[in-house]
Amino acid sequence: MDHFCYQDGVLHCESVAAPALCERFGTPLYVYSRRTFLEHYDRLSAAFAELNPTICYAVKSCHNLAILRMLSQRGAAFDVVSGGELRRIEEAGVDPARAVFAGVGKTDDEISSALDTGIGCFNVESEGELGRIAAIAEARGVVARVALRVNPDVDPKTHVYTTTGKRETKFGIDLDRARRVISDLDGRAGIDLAGFHMHLGSPVNTIEPYIESIEKTLELVAACRADGHRITMLNIGGGFGAHYDDDEAPSASAYAQRIVPLLAGKGLDIILEPGRSIAANAGVLLTRVLYTKRSGERRFVIVDAAMTELLRPALYGSFHFAWPVVVPDEMVPPRRSADLAVDGCVVVDLVGPVCESGDFLAKDRALPPLTRGDLVCVFSAGAYGSVMSSQYNSRCRAAEVLVGGSEARLIRRRETYDDLLATERVTDAPVSF
Ligand code: LLP
Repeated sequence: MDHFCYQDGVLHCESVAAPALCERFGTPLYVYSRRTFLEHYDRLSAAFAELNPTICYAVKSCHNLAILRMLSQRGAAFDVVSGGELRRIEEAGVDPARAVFAGVGKTDDEISSALDTGIGCFNVESEGELGRIAAIAEARGVVARVALRVNPDVDPKTHVYTTTGKRETKFGIDLDRARRVISDLDGRAGIDLAGFHMHLGSPVNTIEPYIESIEKTLELVAACRADGHRITMLNIGGGFGAHYDDDEAPSASAYAQRIVPLLAGKGLDIILEPGRSIAANAGVLLTRVLYTKRSGERRFVIVDAAMTELLRPALYGSFHFAWPVVVPDEMVPPRRSADLAVDGCVVVDLVGPVCESGDFLAKDRALPPLTRGDLVCVFSAGAYGSVMSSQYNSRCRAAEVLVGGSEARLIRRRETYDDLLATERVTDAPVSF
């Protein structure tokens, strides 16, 4: 599933020993495996090859410029959700014509600048947004290519905070309204309606929600075609799972086996928007033990990474397998699962320095004994890890390193205190109103 393996009791990323990376670049440290990233991308691409899809990597999942450039060179297109992400892909050398622009709250400025860059397609989330895009495009004398994001009202059976395909969420347009919205579009010079977009949630570890949503949306495609609209594209979004707890997610080919037959031969250009399934297992967070302490019956291991580096456990109660970077042979973990039982482990809470009790990376976790200075690896942190980090408690954001074979490249330097203060002012003249 990835290229983070123990060799003689020492965790390696590809051919590089994790302790050497920590020595050189410090902790906390995000480490990505180039080979894992590319293999995940290639596997998706091969699994869906019959549809010849455009794979729009979800920039939000892991947005480092070096990662974007690497995936672009492999043939990826991109899914962006803000002016900032659009800027990122341009900076990475990507032509925005190879990008789709999603998100429920695009501002006029974002719409205008996306049109100026020649964005490939807007994924439109509401009638109001469609009207703004049309007006802005018409004022500039250009045509915006759009896909209407439909809300299929299907339960993706994932965390409520990352469920997006149910009617009660803010995303997309109800299927039964979509047909009317399209009819109302007739005659809008600024809009080229290419087709539909959906994104059910994340992670979606079962395939049925995709089947149900695609079937519903294909009915809409047929109805719109019967109304005389030329529908040429369907974007089925992202959401494919990753391996957090053992190998819990279906493989790329398992998703494809069920999804491809539904879409083949339908006269539709297919778009996928995977993020997590490419990035999650391609990155880890390395952290060093600062202190251990007891409070009543509870034992705490306090490390130098916190909710500021990896928010997922605090925000969603997400499970990330964590394990010491250096272990005796008999403690090399045979798998990465929540119920792993290895002799000699002690149940602890793995916590960070941030001043909140919600600041934990793992709770009630049986881990090999840890002492000050030991390194711990938090696995499957490549997606929605570094990108969701913050400077809360005035902490400097971590460095990021990309390993390829026996080489490592610093792709984001660690922030400094000067970075923390760079945008603040105490001496600017006041503005009178
Ligand atoms: N397309 C759209 C429209 C999305 O909103 C997302 C993710 C994706 C594609 C990519 O989904 P993926 O393939 O990565 O599952 N912070 C949460 C995840 C939020 C996902 C947001 N949207 C987490 O840490 O689990």
